[in-house]
Amino acid sequence: MTRIPLPLLKFPSLLLTASLFVLPFFVNSQISDDRSILLELKKQWDNPPDIDNWNDTSSPCDWPEINCTGKAVTVLLLSNKNIVNPIPSILCNLKNLTHIDLSYNYIPNTFPTVLYNCTSLQYLDLSQNYFVGEIPGDIDRLSTHLKFLNLGANNFSGDVPAAIGRMPELQTLQLYQNEFNGTFSENIANLSNLEVLTLAYNELFVPSPIPEKFGNLRNLKYLWMTSANLIGGIPESFANLENLEHLDLAMNFLTGSIPDSIFQFKNLEFLYLFHNNFSGGIPRLVNSTNLVEIDLAMNNLTGPIPEGFGNLLNLTFLSLFSNQLTGEIPVKIGQIPSLKYFKIWKNQLNGTLPPELGHNSPLLAFEASDNAFTGQLPQNLCSKGALLGVVVFNNFLSGEIPKSLGNCSSLTTVQLHNNSFSGAVPEGLWTATNLTSLLLSGNSFSGELPSRLAWNLTRLQIDGNKFLGEIPTGVSTWSNLIVFQASNNQFSGRIPEELTSLSQINSILLDGNQLSGEIPGNIIEWNFLNTLNLSRNRISGKIPASLGNLPSLNYLDLSQNHFLGQIPAQLGHLRLNALNLSSNQLSGKIPNEFDNLAYEYSFLNNSDLCADTLILDLPSCSRITSGNSEKLSTINLAAIIAAVAIFLVAILLAFLLVRDYRKKKLTRDLSAWKLTSFYKLDFTEESILSSLVDTNLIGSGGSGKVYRVPINHMGSAVAVKRIWNSKNLDQKLEKEFLAEVEILGTIRHANIVKLLCCISSENSKLLVYEYMENQSLDKWLHRRKTKEAGNNEYAYTTKANEMIDVYSFGVVLLELVTGQEPNCGGNDKSLAEWAWKHYADGNMIEDALDEEIKEPSNMEVMTRVFKLGLICTGTLPSTRPTMKEVVQVLRQYSPSQSNGESRKGNEKVAAPLLGILNHKRSRRVSSEDEESFGCGV
Ligand SMILES: *[C@@H]1O[C@H](CO)[C@@H](O)[C@H](O)[C@H]1NC(C)=O
Ligand SMILES: *[C@@H]1O[C@H](CO)[C@@H](O)[C@H](O)[C@H]1NC(C)=O
Ligand SMILES: *[C@@H]1O[C@H](CO)[C@@H](O)[C@H](O)[C@H]1NC(C)=O
Ligand SMILES: *[C@@H]1O[C@H](CO)[C@@H](O)[C@H](O)[C@H]1NC(C)=O
Ligand SMILES: *[C@@H]1O[C@H](CO)[C@@H](O)[C@H](O)[C@H]1NC(C)=O
Ligand SMILES: *[C@@H]1O[C@H](CO)[C@@H](O)[C@H](O)[C@H]1NC(C)=O
Repeated sequence: MTRIPLPLLKFPSLLLTASLFVLPFFVNSQISDDRSILLELKKQWDNPPDIDNWNDTSSPCDWPEINCTGKAVTVLLLSNKNIVNPIPSILCNLKNLTHIDLSYNYIPNTFPTVLYNCTSLQYLDLSQNYFVGEIPGDIDRLSTHLKFLNLGANNFSGDVPAAIGRMPELQTLQLYQNEFNGTFSENIANLSNLEVLTLAYNELFVPSPIPEKFGNLRNLKYLWMTSANLIGGIPESFANLENLEHLDLAMNFLTGSIPDSIFQFKNLEFLYLFHNNFSGGIPRLVNSTNLVEIDLAMNNLTGPIPEGFGNLLNLTFLSLFSNQLTGEIPVKIGQIPSLKYFKIWKNQLNGTLPPELGHNSPLLAFEASDNAFTGQLPQNLCSKGALLGVVVFNNFLSGEIPKSLGNCSSLTTVQLHNNSFSGAVPEGLWTATNLTSLLLSGNSFSGELPSRLAWNLTRLQIDGNKFLGEIPTGVSTWSNLIVFQASNNQFSGRIPEELTSLSQINSILLDGNQLSGEIPGNIIEWNFLNTLNLSRNRISGKIPASLGNLPSLNYLDLSQNHFLGQIPAQLGHLRLNALNLSSNQLSGKIPNEFDNLAYEYSFLNNSDLCADTLILDLPSCSRITSGNSEKLSTINLAAIIAAVAIFLVAILLAFLLVRDYRKKKLTRDLSAWKLTSFYKLDFTEESILSSLVDTNLIGSGGSGKVYRVPINHMGSAVAVKRIWNSKNLDQKLEKEFLAEVEILGTIRHANIVKLLCCISSENSKLLVYEYMENQSLDKWLHRRKTKEAGNNEYAYTTKANEMIDVYSFGVVLLELVTGQEPNCGGNDKSLAEWAWKHYADGNMIEDALDEEIKEPSNMEVMTRVFKLGLICTGTLPSTRPTMKEVVQVLRQYSPSQSNGESRKGNEKVAAPLLGILNHKRSRRVSSEDEESFGCGV
């Protein structure tokens, strides 16, 4: 291009004009060289569409991806350009290159040692790519001027080599989120200019202590080592790191006490030490007055909350939950002008709550449940109008709900259960616009129910109070309610038909009130009703046949009322786990479906019921009807009573004997039981086995019984499902059991009940689940909106586990649609690997689907579920969606969502996720991105 055409040499005069003409090219020779290098680079990358504006008629210095210094290309900005090929060696022919950003691409292969030839390089960002293999042991052959190196969010494995400590100019070293399965070199400590060091989310590291030598990094401002398999204590030498602004050692296995020195760092703004095993007290002297966020949750810290925290005038986030802190909350914490999140639940704190809390700062979340607080709720929690949640259950708080909470439209959850509150609920609280859950159980609240409720309210739990009056007919406007739990109050009057119009309702518990009248015969919209408990009232009349048509009902308790007449045959169509119609005045033949042992306690104390068989201890219908008239003769009656009495005594004796024998047998045969546990257990199999007694029974159904078994004196319990005890478990049940164990045993997710262990013997199987009585605050509060200041506080506490859960869930999805078992992908590949390979090789997804259930009508859904399974099982945890996103996609296919507006809404949310495979990986790096709030119920 700059060569002068030969003929011109022959004509000096022409040469002169020619050189005038070509002069610009001479002057710009470097730039045109650089341009041809860049165009060659583009070519070797297969012309990524995102840089198709690079051409040979414009100057590279005018391309948006390039910066020049003087006339040389110095800066290459190629983040997120869909580059899928390796880095060509020609890149370093750009001799003046100082800055390369290739982050967020799909660049494969091992570490690009071709970059060793870029001798002027100061800045290199290769984060968020597909690099694999080890970081080379000679990585220090990179430019000696290198100040910035980011290799985060790749798939590098092995060790972080010692050579990394031989790049003396480095100020930033980012190695977060890789697959390192060796150790990190303590030579990192030789990087005396280092200001930023990130090693977070490398949970495959061999467990290692933090090197004492790290105390040499005196310029360090930002240290991020979340989830890096750290053990041991924080080294003494950390006292030297007095320039730290951000210290994050969360989610490791660190022990010992928190060094006093940390709270002396003048510039420290963010301190995250949560989810470790730190013990001892929190340092008393707090001089780091710039602290903005402190998270010491989930450790074993003891002693009081330092008074000095009250002097931290920039503090927005203080989280100390799940420790063993004692004493009172320093009053001055209520005066901090910036405090937004205050989380101290699950400690042993006592005394009164700081009265000024919320008065001086835009408080968003106040969570103090499971302590021993007394006195009243602070009066002005919502005075800045920002409050999302008040969670103070399981304390000894008293007095009325502050009137001000009635004017707090930001509230989404109020959890005051199990305290000693009294008085009426402020009118405005029932209707607070954004409120989704109002939990007031176990207090002494009084007053009547409002006719209107917050439109968003899904959960209303007010059982065990002194509420009275009728259930208002306005109940029909409670249209989003899912749980209505109002047992053990003083409600009276009839059940209005309007209650049956709640189309979302799942549970209605109104037992232990004074309701009377009949159940409305016409049921408008109880399509999702699963649990209906009206026992211990004064309800009369017939049981409406329409109850038998409810598609979701599986728990029905109408015991201890005044129901009359026959049990409608339609009830037999329900698939019930528990049925209790005892202690009424029912008569006639029970529906055939109930004529089996699973219902042996369902019909007690109803004088005129009968059955075809004698299994249930009910009189035989044939005998009653053969007695010509309705009334039996007195003699016959006496004889029958005597016979029944003798029979009952005999049964009782037999029962006692058998029970005693069984109990003994259980314990004697302990060795015959095999325990498989999925979690660390704090109970023994013996304690479970000996507690499978009727007083602990909470439900029974076709395939077994469910018991609630207390496991300690603190009131913790587990739920034990006993799969029906027959001589030999039949094949189908055995299969069901194994499936449940397999799936629940591997899934770890907050919204899926935890299977703790299973205990099995030759002819009986027990599944032991977590029993959840009180919802922790996290379920309700921590899961929406708060992407404040680039930091979602909840996300980082659950993130790592969630990504593993999502993986497991993805495997389940793949199993469902392919019909294959998790480890049967052939050639000892896992199902997930097999599915990925199938997809990557360009095979039709349809070919991978289960032949047995594959039909043209559901092909599209199956294909999408297959893709969803793929996304969930991506090798890089960072590419996996959140459980919430997964649920959103799945909900789109559930029958209840298949019509109406909601579907449109959901498609919008779901589409980008399903598009990931075609377009862009979903990416998450730090705690910023995850949204996990908003689980409805
Ligand atoms: C070359 O790129 C520039 C902008 O980068 C554009 O204005 C010009 O039209 C392009 N030339 C050709 C031949 O594509
Ligand atoms: C590249 O140039 C743009 C525009 O002048 C500038 O904003 C940016 O900071 C430069 N980037 C680097 C890394 O020099
Ligand atoms: C580019 O680097 C070379 C040395 O590699 C140097 O001679 C030249 O001046 C630099 N060009 C610019 C424009 O800085
Ligand atoms: C670096 O450049 C030299 C010549 O300048 C070349 O011989 C060598 O192969 C290059 N190395 C790499 C790794 O590309
Ligand atoms: C580390 O991971 C790599 C890549 O997955 C593997 O090849 C290697 O065997 C692993 N090394 C150890 C010690 O586990
Ligand atoms: C640290 O704070 C305490 C009060 O909390 C004060 O007495 C002490 O002088 C402070 N020390 C330094 C070094 O500022």
